[in-house]
Amino acid sequence: MLDPLFFVLMRNNSIGIFDSGYGGLTVFKSIIPQLPDYDYIYFGDNARAPYGDHSYETVYRYTLGCVEWLFSQGCSLVILACNTASAKALRTIQQNVLPHKYPERRVLGVIRPTAEVIDEYTRSKKVGVLGTRGTVKSASYQIEINKLYPDIEVVQQSCPMWVPLIENNEHLNPGADYFVKTYLERLLAKTTDIDCILLACTHYPLIIPKLETYLPEGIKLLSQGDIVAGSLKHYLDRHSEIEARLSRTAGQKFVTTGDPLVFDTLGSLFFGSIIKSASVSL
Ligand code: DGL
Repeated sequence: MLDPLFFVLMRNNSIGIFDSGYGGLTVFKSIIPQLPDYDYIYFGDNARAPYGDHSYETVYRYTLGCVEWLFSQGCSLVILACNTASAKALRTIQQNVLPHKYPERRVLGVIRPTAEVIDEYTRSKKVGVLGTRGTVKSASYQIEINKLYPDIEVVQQSCPMWVPLIENNEHLNPGADYFVKTYLERLLAKTTDIDCILLACTHYPLIIPKLETYLPEGIKLLSQGDIVAGSLKHYLDRHSEIEARLSRTAGQKFVTTGDPLVFDTLGSLFFGSIIKSASVSL
C-alpha cells in the first residue's frame, strides 16, 4: 500500500504516464528533457504485464483501472505510453468514458503521433512494424499510417517473446538472440526494400543493441520516445486550457502494481537514473 504521505504530496495536477510495465519509461525518459518543469506520475502495471496477448476486454479493463487511479491522484492528462493499450483501449476510453464521466480530462496514446511522422523516415515507402500480438492483430498502424499516407506499405510482425525477456531482464543475454533474429527475419521475409523498422512497443528500445547486430545495412530502427515527447509538447502548446491546469514543480513519482524493489532495480536501468517507486494495488 502507498504511504499516506504520498497521497498528500501528490495532489499536484501531474501528467500521468502509463504502461503495462517498464516500457513506458523509454517514453518518459524522452519527455523529461523536452518538458522538464511539469509533475509526473509513472504507473507500471507490472503485476499484470505483459498485456500483449490479452483480449481487448481485458486490456481495456486493466488500462481503464490504471487511468482512473491516475485521475484519482489529480492527473488531468494521461499518456498511454503503451502501444497495446493505445491499440485496444484508447478509443473506447476517449469515446465512451471521458465525455460523460471525466469531461475535463484527457487521455492520449502513442500510435497516432507515430503514424503522423512516419513518412519522414522512409524513402522506399515500405515500413516494417514490430509489436506485440495485440498491437499487430489490431492493425492499428496499418490503418493509421494508410489514412495519412496511402502510398506507404506497412508490413507487420509480432514478437511475443520480447516483452517477457525484457520484463525479466534477459533481453541482452545470449538466450535472447534466437528470438531477436527469428522475428526480424520473419518481418524481412514478408517484403523487399523495407528501409525503416518501427519499434511499435515501448519496451523494444531496450533490445536495440541486440537487434542492431542482426539488422541488414540500410535499415533504420525507429523508437517512439522522442516522437511522443515532441507530440506531447505540441499538444500542450495547442491546448492552453489543459496546459494551464498542470502543476510545475518538476516532481517525478513512480508507482507499480508489482514489487517496488524489483521495479526500482530494473526500472532504474531502463530509465537511466535512480527510481524509487511506491506500491499500488488496484
Ligand atoms: N510497452 C507495451 C507496448 O508498447 C508492452 C505491451 C505488453 O505488455 O505486452 O505495447
